[in-house]
Amino acid sequence: MGYKEVYSAWQADPEGFWMDAAKGIDWVQGPSKAHFDQGPAGEWFADGMVNTCFNAVDRHVLAGRGDQIAIMHESPITHSTKGITYKELQARVSSLAGALRMRGVEKGDRVIIYMPMIPEALEAMLACARIGAIHSVVFGGFAAHELAVRIDDCTPKAIIAASCGLEPGRVVHYKPLLDAAIDLATHKPEFCVVFQREQEVAKLVEGRDFSWHGFQYGVKPAECVPVEGNHPAYILYTSGTTGAPKGVVRPTAGHLVALNWSMKAIYNIEAGDRFWAASDVGWVVGHSYICYGPLLAGATTVVFEGKPVGTPHAGVFWRIIQNHRIKSFFTAPTALRAIRREDPNGDYIKRYKLHEMQALFLAGERADPETVKWAQEHLGVPVIDHWWQTETGWAIAGNPLGIELLPVKVGSPTKPMPGYDVQVLDEGGHPVAPGTLGAIAIKLPLPPGTLPTLWNADDRFKKSYLSHFPGYYETGDAGYIDEDGYVYIMARTDDVINVAGHRLSTGAMEEVLASHKDVAECAVIGVADELKGQLPMGFLCLTKGCTRPAADVIKECVRLVRDQIGPVAAFKLAVVVDRLPKTRSGKILRGTMAKIADGVEYKMPATIDDPAILDEITAALKAIGYPEAA
Ligand code: COA
Ligand code: AMP
Repeated sequence: MGYKEVYSAWQADPEGFWMDAAKGIDWVQGPSKAHFDQGPAGEWFADGMVNTCFNAVDRHVLAGRGDQIAIMHESPITHSTKGITYKELQARVSSLAGALRMRGVEKGDRVIIYMPMIPEALEAMLACARIGAIHSVVFGGFAAHELAVRIDDCTPKAIIAASCGLEPGRVVHYKPLLDAAIDLATHKPEFCVVFQREQEVAKLVEGRDFSWHGFQYGVKPAECVPVEGNHPAYILYTSGTTGAPKGVVRPTAGHLVALNWSMKAIYNIEAGDRFWAASDVGWVVGHSYICYGPLLAGATTVVFEGKPVGTPHAGVFWRIIQNHRIKSFFTAPTALRAIRREDPNGDYIKRYKLHEMQALFLAGERADPETVKWAQEHLGVPVIDHWWQTETGWAIAGNPLGIELLPVKVGSPTKPMPGYDVQVLDEGGHPVAPGTLGAIAIKLPLPPGTLPTLWNADDRFKKSYLSHFPGYYETGDAGYIDEDGYVYIMARTDDVINVAGHRLSTGAMEEVLASHKDVAECAVIGVADELKGQLPMGFLCLTKGCTRPAADVIKECVRLVRDQIGPVAAFKLAVVVDRLPKTRSGKILRGTMAKIADGVEYKMPATIDDPAILDEITAALKAIGYPEAA
């Protein structure tokens, strides 16, 4: 069957389609049906009983894959390479799970994981899954305040952390960040487990903190605890319009079924194959395709602690693909842009034997045609863009290599995957004609594996995603579908920006800037950046009577965002202006400001209160070199 037949088969019988896909999972008790009309947006396989860790680890050992490498840790930063077999993984995970259980962590308890790209991060995730605890991984580039916000939202019984992370040229001191976050948070975890890395041994708090190894000493390994299909497997926080991150809930069974299906259908990966997604466990790509997807499939996954360039050079991706005979590789367009900048002629690529790589997958941000064409030319394999979100957990639109490689149209992530009825709507919620730009929405129900709600926030879930277009899930992306059914993602419809493949909230940055004593009002927009796609830029109106030099306030504001949100916000650009352009009803015209900064033509908004302010914005931007010369 080709793509068309598979998509049609899903359309004709969604129940049958997903019940069939569910056969790829080992159930303790199989579900009686696929879709359950319950919860704010429906649920999947709710009455099945299943365990994620069993499916990702134990079943492969039982099937005779115990000696196969499950996780390959490639850390050019520490100059080390280390493989862990499925059998070793099973022993390590069941030991950690046993220790967690002995300290009182049970099914349904939350556990925050704050770790860098080391295999122990995946082991911690799997150990939670083994006993039915709900993990929430927090990206290492977030600062203490962001960690504290997540602690208060999901109220974890325990936090599992590492002593440090390693960025090129600097050690990220996780432990002081963890201690500060616990101090800041209202909720206090009962205990912390700290993996002491040799690069930095952290000081433990007596009675609260345990070291990774000591914690597990002499414990009885834990068996897999079956959970209901709709039991949350994890919570992953992502940026929304406001400063409060959204706790995306991932239900257990749908997650297993969808990821298992996607590994073969989308990435063409089966048991024994080698797969690598160069992302971070703190993001959804890391959850789905560093940890769970490849392990569910019985493949080898790579945990990469490094950068596409500078660790030590722009050929590091290709070296790893060669050495581990990677079959499908997944990265963000930003990473390729960084490589291309240093290796425009693909000289590094030529040094390595990449003949086992069948395709390069891109996601996380818009794949610009120049970068795609460069990769196509130098790698000589299909370059497959696919589009998805933290909320969906797997591709909404893609090119299903394991079913049929559809003709690639550069600039499009190809076609909707089975399970997704993607439509482009006008403001009134009516589908528009092919080629017409609009809001991209997905007709309900969403497929298995997608979010059924936000953690402890059903109303916010409905308001954020379901209320604008009744009967649809609103993706927050704008774009169009062409005559051939290819989807094009052009922009966000909200205040979310995408910086180096990282999803960030301008609203969250504005909240931090507004807390500076000399800032009366502010706005943050995303400006185009050649390497990172977008960069945040702040506009600051100072309080009346403030006579301090603008440069000092800007410096403090940059520091404040780094300290409050974290280095990953990459907030380094700001200007001081007298006034912000607004509509007559007081809405800040961020879109118009972004167009001015990018040097894109704009129409004077009909509702603008005072058009002269746009001239002031233009002058302020010009003073700092924007729009940049092409
Ligand atoms: N822990 C602590 N700090 C981190 C971090 C982490 N896990 N990840 C990033 N940071 C820091 C960086 O060190 C940098 O700090 P600096 O301001 O002191 O230099 C800051 O956050 C911004 O990071 P980033 O935007 O990633 O920029 P960079 O200059 O370090 O690297 C790229 C640029 C293009 C090489 C890098 O962004 C990259 O590899 N991007 C791909 C992203 C990706 O795979 N995303 C996954 C989505 S699918
Ligand atoms: P995240 O939740 O961090 O994965 O970010 C999801 C958002 O990233 C989407 O809503 C899009 O705005 C953007 N995005 C992800 N993949 C793509 C893609 N292939 N093309 C264009 N935008 C993308």
